[in-house]
Amino acid sequence: MCGIVGIIGKEPVAQRLFDGLKRLEYRGYDSAGICTLENGDFSRARAQGKLHNLKAELEEKDLPGTLGIAHTRWATHGVPNVPNAHPHIAGKVALVVNGIIENFKSLREELQADGREFLSETDSEVVAHLVDREMERGKDPQEAVAAILSRLHGAFAIAFLFQDEPELMIGARRGAPLTVGAGEGENYLGSDAIALAPLTQKIAYLEDGDWVVVKRDGFQIYDSDNDPVERELVESGASASAVEKGNYRHFMQKEIFEQPAVVANTLASYMRPIDGTVALPDNDLDLSTIDRVTIVACGTSYYAGMVAKYWIEKFARVAVDIDVASEFRYRDPVLEKGGLALFISQSGETADTLAALDHSREQGQIIAAVVNVPTSAMAREADLLLPTHAGPEIGVASTKAFTCQLAVLAAFAANLARAKGLMSADEEAEIVKHLQEAPEAINEALNHDDDIAAMAHLVAPARDVLYLGRGPDYPLALEGALKLKEISYIHAEGYAAGEMKHGPIALIDEDVPVIVLAPSGPYFEKTVSNMQEVRARGGKIIFISDAKGLEEAGDGCVATIEMPEAHPLIQPIVYAVPVQLLAYHVAVAKGTDVDQPRNLAKSVTVE
Ligand code: G6P
Repeated sequence: MCGIVGIIGKEPVAQRLFDGLKRLEYRGYDSAGICTLENGDFSRARAQGKLHNLKAELEEKDLPGTLGIAHTRWATHGVPNVPNAHPHIAGKVALVVNGIIENFKSLREELQADGREFLSETDSEVVAHLVDREMERGKDPQEAVAAILSRLHGAFAIAFLFQDEPELMIGARRGAPLTVGAGEGENYLGSDAIALAPLTQKIAYLEDGDWVVVKRDGFQIYDSDNDPVERELVESGASASAVEKGNYRHFMQKEIFEQPAVVANTLASYMRPIDGTVALPDNDLDLSTIDRVTIVACGTSYYAGMVAKYWIEKFARVAVDIDVASEFRYRDPVLEKGGLALFISQSGETADTLAALDHSREQGQIIAAVVNVPTSAMAREADLLLPTHAGPEIGVASTKAFTCQLAVLAAFAANLARAKGLMSADEEAEIVKHLQEAPEAINEALNHDDDIAAMAHLVAPARDVLYLGRGPDYPLALEGALKLKEISYIHAEGYAAGEMKHGPIALIDEDVPVIVLAPSGPYFEKTVSNMQEVRARGGKIIFISDAKGLEEAGDGCVATIEMPEAHPLIQPIVYAVPVQLLAYHVAVAKGTDVDQPRNLAKSVTVE
C-alpha cells in the first residue's frame, strides 16, 4: 500500500528513484511521482496510473539533483489523479507518505484557518503544511518534524525533503514500514529492503515511532521520545532479481510455478525427516498449556487459517476460533488469558491484522505469527514466529505464500498435537512423510497447466462462477473464488458444498460455471451428491479430483482437472494449484492486468 524510496547521494537520483519505484510498484499503482532538489529548487514529476505514465513524463521533464524522494500510490483519501499524487509540496517542504493520517480533517481545518491553501484532497498534504508552518515559526527542519509527529494519528511512513537543505532527508515511521539504507557517501530510505537492494545491502529497520535524520555521510535515528537511538545495521540479503519475472509472462505465473521449491524450502525448516519429527523455531513456550487458538488474518491468509482450523482441531483437539482481522477487533472477542492468538500474513504489515495482534496482546494472549517477511512488524511482535520461506511475492494475488502458510500451519498443528500428548511418534512420522510428499504432488498438479489453460474459455465469458468444496476443501473453494475475482473481475463465490441447497443453487443455470473441488477421501461422496444437484439443474461443472474420483464421478462434467492422489493432509496444498492456474488463465484470456489488478494492492497498511 504505497511505496516510498528516497536517496541522498553523490550522483543524480531521478533514474535510480524511478528504478526503486519499479521494485515497489506491487504496493500500489494508482499514481506515482518523484521530487528532486537542486540549487534550492524542487523539481517534480507525477503521473496518474502505472509507472509507464511516469516514465513518459520523465522523458519530457528533467529532474536534476542528487537527492530526491519518490512514491507509488494506492489511493485512500482522494481519487487517483495528478494533484493527489505524491510527492506533495507545501512551502519549503516536500514529502511522500505511505499510510493514513486519521485526524487529517481537523488538522486541515486548523491549517486552513491559518490561511494555508491545499492543492490536493489527500490526508498527506496536511503533514507537509504542519512541518512548513513550524519552520515558518522559526524551527529548523529537524525540530519541526519532531514537533509535529506526535500530532499525527494513524499508521504511516513518511520521507521529507526541505528546499533549503541540500544535505538533509528525514524519514519517520509509525505502523507502516520504513528502512534506512547505508551506502558509500550516500544513504537511502525505502519501504522495504527490496526497494534498496541494488543500492545497498546494509539496512536498518526503523522501529515503531522512530524517525531518522539522513545525510550523505550518515544517519541518526531518534525514537518517539526524540531521544537518539541505535538500530542495528543488518545485511538485507534482498535481491533485486527476486523481483524480476525471468522467463515468465507474469509474476503470478512465476510464483505459482515456484511452489514446489518454496514449499520444500519452508518444510525443510520445520521437519526432521531423518527422525520423522516436526520442529518449530526455537521458543520458550509450553504449547501443552494452550487450550484455545484464535486465528486472525485477511484475504488469502484468512483462508489458510480456515484450513488450519481443521488441522488443529483434528490433530490437537484444541478449539479454534477464526475471524477476519477487520471484524475481530470490533466484535470485542472473548479472549481468555493464556490462549494463543495466531496471525497469518504474507506481508506481516496488514494494518487490520496488526491492530488485531496488538489487541490480542493487550488481552493476555500468547502471540504466534505465520509471516513471509521476517523483518515485518508482525514478525517482530510475535512470541512464536513461524516464518514461511516463499521469497518475495510480487503478484498482488497471493499464491506461493498461501501454500507455504499451509505447510507451516500443518507443522504447527502436528507440533501442538505432540505437545498435548495426542499424537504418537509414529503418527508424527506419518505426517512428516506426507508433508514431504507435497512438493512432488504440487509439481504433478502443475503439469496440468496446459489442460487448465485450454479450459479457460469455459469460464472467461461467465458473469458469475461458483466454487464448491467440503471440509478443508471449502476454504479452497473460497480461495479459488477470491483468486478469480481479484484478477479476472468475474463475480465468484465459494460455498461449502452442502450449503448450496440453502440458497446459491437458485443461481444455477447453463451460464454459471461451477467449479467443484472433491479429492477422493472422506468427503468425496457427499460433495459429489451436491455436484449432482447442480448437474440436475443444467449447471456446467468443472470437476477437480484425482484419477479415482474422476472415474467415479467425472462423466457429464464440461471439463475435469486431474490431480495426483494425495494424502488428505496435503490435499489443500495440492488443490490450491488448479484454482490458482484456472484464475490465472481466465485472466490472461480476458486480457486483464494479472499482476496489478485494478483497485487492489499487495499489502494493505490501512484499516
Ligand atoms: C491484500 C492482498 C491479498 C492478501 C491480503 C492479506 O488484500 O491483495 O492477496 O491475501 O491483502 O495480506 P497479508 O500480507 O496480510 O497476507
